[in-house]
Amino acid sequence: MSGELSSGGTPTRVDLVIAHAAEVLTCRPVSGRGVRGAALGRPERIADGALAIDGGRIMTVGASAEVLARFAGREVLDATGKLVTPGFVDTHTHLVHEGSRHEEWGHKVLGTAPGTLAGGIEHTARTTGAAGFRRLREGALARLDTMLAHGTTTAEAKSGYGLTPASERRILEVTAALDHPVDLVGTFLGAHVPPEGTPRGRHLDGVVAQLAEVRHLAEYCDVTCDPAGFTPAECERIARAAREHGYGLRVHADQTGYGGGAEMAIEAGAASVDHLEHVSDRAIGMFADSGTAATLLPGVTYHLMDMVPGPRGGSWSDARHPRLAERYRRLIDSGALVVLATDYNPGSSPTLSMQAVMQLAARLYRLGYGEAWHMSTINAAVSLGRDADIGSLETGKRADAVVWNVPSHEMVVNRFGANLVSSVIKDGVVARG
Ligand code: NIG
Ligand code: FE
Repeated sequence: MSGELSSGGTPTRVDLVIAHAAEVLTCRPVSGRGVRGAALGRPERIADGALAIDGGRIMTVGASAEVLARFAGREVLDATGKLVTPGFVDTHTHLVHEGSRHEEWGHKVLGTAPGTLAGGIEHTARTTGAAGFRRLREGALARLDTMLAHGTTTAEAKSGYGLTPASERRILEVTAALDHPVDLVGTFLGAHVPPEGTPRGRHLDGVVAQLAEVRHLAEYCDVTCDPAGFTPAECERIARAAREHGYGLRVHADQTGYGGGAEMAIEAGAASVDHLEHVSDRAIGMFADSGTAATLLPGVTYHLMDMVPGPRGGSWSDARHPRLAERYRRLIDSGALVVLATDYNPGSSPTLSMQAVMQLAARLYRLGYGEAWHMSTINAAVSLGRDADIGSLETGKRADAVVWNVPSHEMVVNRFGANLVSSVIKDGVVARG
């Protein structure tokens, strides 16, 4: 049918038409930026849908009959029986590092040595510091291949496993040197945790001093506002200095305990506050009226076994967070801009797959299908300040799309454990598949 004359005249020739998809899930917001509250559960879906793509941009999205009447693809991808969605936007990764932490985790599972957040980060900072530039680059490129193969087309990448100015800079330089179809957004996480043996004030002085030097390598600045990280006052100092240098702000908050992190981040106008396992009722009430995204990290909940009772010191203790789903439901219902991300890192969340993240979030936090998809696409794009360009399938946006080996968006979330991607289109080109 493509290429035929329509009653309206000759179809316009475009680079690519994806046609006859069992379903196109657009993730288009109804109004405004992102999708909040009850609208999260009502995603726009087009049966027998199609996309016309030219010059890396989406020309139109709609029913196959209408799209094919207007556009003829130089290349046509027949998506019969398949789902088409926007590419995932993963807003929180610690992409560049060296080394695995499976030994530490093995002990945690059995309760033989629980470990600490700072101890684990110090370990990865040592292995990262000992690796050469090339080795770090190759490791990161291999991870990006895996991310793309699982449907991610844009990702944020933080430093944080440096803990010294020179090592932090090197991680950001490696990130900037990555040439890969997955688009990257760099973040400077100089204040990850207070490094062992350095007075925390001195460490923070160093982070503030480095902000100017690495500005060209990072769009955002991140800081850990947590009992195991820094205090709200210390984080405010970093946030203020970061703003003066033109960075956007992202915050790791309230992970190991309540640290006033979410309140600090919202008041500082952060783009996103991430983790939130110990978010306060007060903070839950503050999100809806703010531009700050609440980013949930189900890979961490799952990998750290936060919802399962565990053996500790010879006896069994209760789960750390048996009621996370209830807390997060209040957050969603309040109208917060909620986002899902991998938090890929070797310690608390060694997954590169946003598919896995949606599947875990649905089960651990009891999310609906549409909720999980909106949080992983358009809302994630808003949190990175990229929603004019990516995050949904809409005319004019970049043609970043995933074709799936299942016919509906529900099935991607309902299944788990296998990669369901058929092909990935990045900037209008089949990058994988
Ligand atoms: O995002 N401040 C928290 N940092 C990481 C933990 C990284 C690690 O355990 O190495 C996080 O979960
Ligand atoms: Fe993180």
